[in-house]
Amino acid sequence: MTKPNLAVDLNGLKLQNPVTTASGTFGFGPEYRNYVDLNRLGGVMVKGTTLNPKLGNPTPRIAETPAGMLNAIGLQNPGVDHFLARILPLIKDYNFKTIVNISGNTVEDYAKLANKLNVEGVDALEINISCPNVKKGGLAFGTQPEMAASVVEAVRAETDMSLITKLSPNVADITSIARAVEEAGTDVISLINTLLGMKIDIHNQEPILANKMGGLSGPAIKPVAVRMVYQVAQAVEVPLIGMGGISNADDAIEFLLAGASAISVGTANFVNPEVTMEILDGIEEYLVEKGYEDINEIVGKAIK
Ligand SMILES: Cc1cc2nc3c(=O)[nH]c(=O)nc-3n(C[C@H](O)[C@H](O)[C@H](O)COP(=O)(O)O)c2cc1C
Repeated sequence: MTKPNLAVDLNGLKLQNPVTTASGTFGFGPEYRNYVDLNRLGGVMVKGTTLNPKLGNPTPRIAETPAGMLNAIGLQNPGVDHFLARILPLIKDYNFKTIVNISGNTVEDYAKLANKLNVEGVDALEINISCPNVKKGGLAFGTQPEMAASVVEAVRAETDMSLITKLSPNVADITSIARAVEEAGTDVISLINTLLGMKIDIHNQEPILANKMGGLSGPAIKPVAVRMVYQVAQAVEVPLIGMGGISNADDAIEFLLAGASAISVGTANFVNPEVTMEILDGIEEYLVEKGYEDINEIVGKAIK
């Protein structure tokens, strides 16, 4: 039997297969080179990059939860100039698409980042709109359709590169945000970012995270993520990258059936650093077993 086609075309962003790694959980890629054949990945979303270097939040900034974890890293990263000078040269020649996840405090920050990253070797930008807008009292950009759209428009004005907008699940109606960013010119939508959560130490009677609240990720959030992908897939035309709790091939296939054209693996990399390779093999086995010749045949198959 011939091998099924695994390549996906996300509105012009061509991945050799649908398996990517979620921002903040896979470093810049090479950190995992002893566990993963990096050349087999479809894409790597690098750690959230900001204009200036960031030390992140005070510790403790991660905590385990049932079937997941909370994090409040606070976007620790070396800044865009360091990324361009020191990191991009190390990763640009791998077969995976290099997708830079960008974060800002203002619309102008995002525009400046897009302008700086508009260089050879960067294949796409993933716009993290879960960041607080300092000019709007810290309300996250991704919680209001107009604010979300303004970020995408500003980035779009700076570059013709593929734009992936990453949605926050901490909203009442994710489809209205999805439609707004599609209208503003995003090529792809990725979802979901972490769900806002909290854990309290009952002995010292204080929040466990120094930041008090953090983002919940891992298997605990998967049903919410699948539901949101399923809803957004029916609300927009642009392709989706689904994520949230994917830990094995079955989970990944669920997202494809819900309407995602590609998937991202996050927290599971911490549990099993080889998991992306297992997911890739498992997706291929599923296609062979079910008699599909092309991965694209199963995208959105569960939408009735
Ligand atoms: C430790 C950690 C750091 C993260 N950092 C970022 C980040 O910098 N930018 C971003 O858009 N998402 C970030 N995320 C969110 C993930 O990319 C992903 O959207 C989320 O964790 C859900 O997927 P998962 O359940 O597979 O981890 C981070 C998640 C974790 C656990």
